[in-house]
Formats: sequence, C-alpha cells, structure tokens
Amino acid sequence: MNIALIGYGKMGHEIEKIALGRGHKIVSIIDVNNRHDFDSDAFKSADIAIEFSTPDSAIENYHKCFEANVAVVAGTTGWLDHLDEVKKACEEDGKTFFYASNYSLGVNIFFALNKYLAKIMNDYPDYNVSMEETHHIHKLDAPSGTAITLAEGVLDNVERKENWILETESKPSDLAIHCIREGEVPGIHEIVYESDADVISIKHDAKSRKGFALGAVVAAEFAKGKKGFLGMKDMLNF
Ligand SMILES: NC(=O)c1ccc[n+]([C@@H]2O[C@H](COP(=O)([O-])OP(=O)(O)OC[C@H]3O[C@@H](n4cnc5c(N)ncnc54)[C@H](O)[C@@H]3O)[C@@H](O)[C@H]2O)c1
Repeated sequence: MNIALIGYGKMGHEIEKIALGRGHKIVSIIDVNNRHDFDSDAFKSADIAIEFSTPDSAIENYHKCFEANVAVVAGTTGWLDHLDEVKKACEEDGKTFFYASNYSLGVNIFFALNKYLAKIMNDYPDYNVSMEETHHIHKLDAPSGTAITLAEGVLDNVERKENWILETESKPSDLAIHCIREGEVPGIHEIVYESDADVISIKHDAKSRKGFALGAVVAAEFAKGKKGFLGMKDMLNF
C-alpha cells in the first residue's frame, strides 16, 4: 500500500518504521515546512494518508487530503469541534476517514472493560467515579482524547453522572478528570470508583508509542478501498 505521512514527529517516525516493516511504501512525508507537497503527484499517489500532527493544524490537513482524494487515518486529538464537517465530507462527498482517539489494541480492550464496569456500577450509587490521566509534558491538549472517550463510556452508562469536567468535581453529577503532565510518559489512564468501604480501579499504562503506531497502520490497511466515516468499532469485534 502507498502511504503518505502527515506530521513527522514522534508518532510519524514510529508509524514509518512499522509501515515499512509490514511491506508498505511511504510515498510522501509532509510536515510544517513542506505543506506545498499536498499538491505533488507523490502525495496524490497515496492510498491513505496517516495524520498525526497538532490539534490546530489537523482539520486543514484533512481538507487537503479530501481535495486530493486521499483517504485519511486520523490520529491527532483535540480537533473534534470540527467533527461535523468531516462527517459531512464522508456522507455527502463519499470521502474516507478513519478516526480513533487511541489506536492501541490494549486501550480499545480497556474502552470495552470501562463500559462494562460502568454498567455494573450504575446500580451502586455509594461509589463515586473519577478519572486520572498522565502524559508527557509536550502534550498540547487536556484532557487527552483517550480520557474523553473513557469519560463518554462512563457518562453513557452511569446515570448519576452528566458531564465530565477538568480537575475537581463541583457537583455530584460531574465526572472529574485529573490531568497530570510529567516527563516522557506515553499515556496512563485510570478510572476509580470509591465508596466509604473500598476502591475499585482499572488502569491502562502504555509502555511505548508502538501500540498506537501499529494500530494506525492496521487501521490504514482496513480502511483501504472503503468509504465513509470509520472507527475502531468497525475494525474490532467487541
Ligand atoms: N490516536 C492515537 O492513538 C494517538 C496516539 C499518540 C498521539 N496522538 C496524537 O497525535 C498527535 C501527534 O502526536 P506526536 O506525539 O507525534 O506529536 P509531535 O509533536 O511529536 O509531532 C507533531 C508533528 O506535526 C508537525 N506539524 C505541526 N503543524 C503541522 C502542519 N500544519 N502540517 C503538518 N505537520 C505539522 C510538527 O512539526 C511535528 O513534527 C497529537 O495530537 C497526539 O495527541 C494520538
């Protein structure tokens, strides 16, 4: 498969290694200083563009891909206020767009576990629920996209919680997300249910960026030849 990389930072480099290892060809690499390459024949020859850039630049990059008719696997987080325009491009103009707030298989198993636990805990109001996420100091958005997906999993299933909120909850219906930025941590997410009697917590701790990069390349293989707005639930069977 011909792959274009958009954003050649920590994730872009990791994805390049994994894509080459799986027999794919990197036909174009676009970063902040060569954005004119969106108009190149090399970029247009890509089957898929894998995009891991910054929250502010992502949406413009997606439109560039749509203009060139190149399918997108989107990894950047923090751009979801533009979600409707991306979905519209998929539904009305037949574009292909795959998005996951987290591409790691382990995290997606964790998403399913989070929903299952939340369904059980809905019947036990003595437990309050809160979340904590820790990432490296370079991360631009907070809470992380993964934390938002986890929060949605709780809010959809625990009726006594209505909104997620950064830091401390101000009313019982708030789901507090505490965000820590330290060192080079690839990503830790923990959901904690606490009563007067005990604490139940589930935690995912990424050892490196490899899991995210592999998941993004597998998503690109899955999305090739498909149309519409796709996500992990289309690719995984749980
Ligand atoms: N979905 C997931 O599984 C997942 C996993 C890890 C990281 N992320 C997200 O991916 C994004 C990138 O993460 P990273 O760790 O590689 O960051 P990074 O800072 O190491 O790399 C970002 C790259 O994007 C480039 N860039 C900036 N503006 C650009 C533009 N207009 N066009 C093209 N490139 C541009 C930067 O120069 C840099 O090389 C972040 O939003 C992060 O939260 C998502």
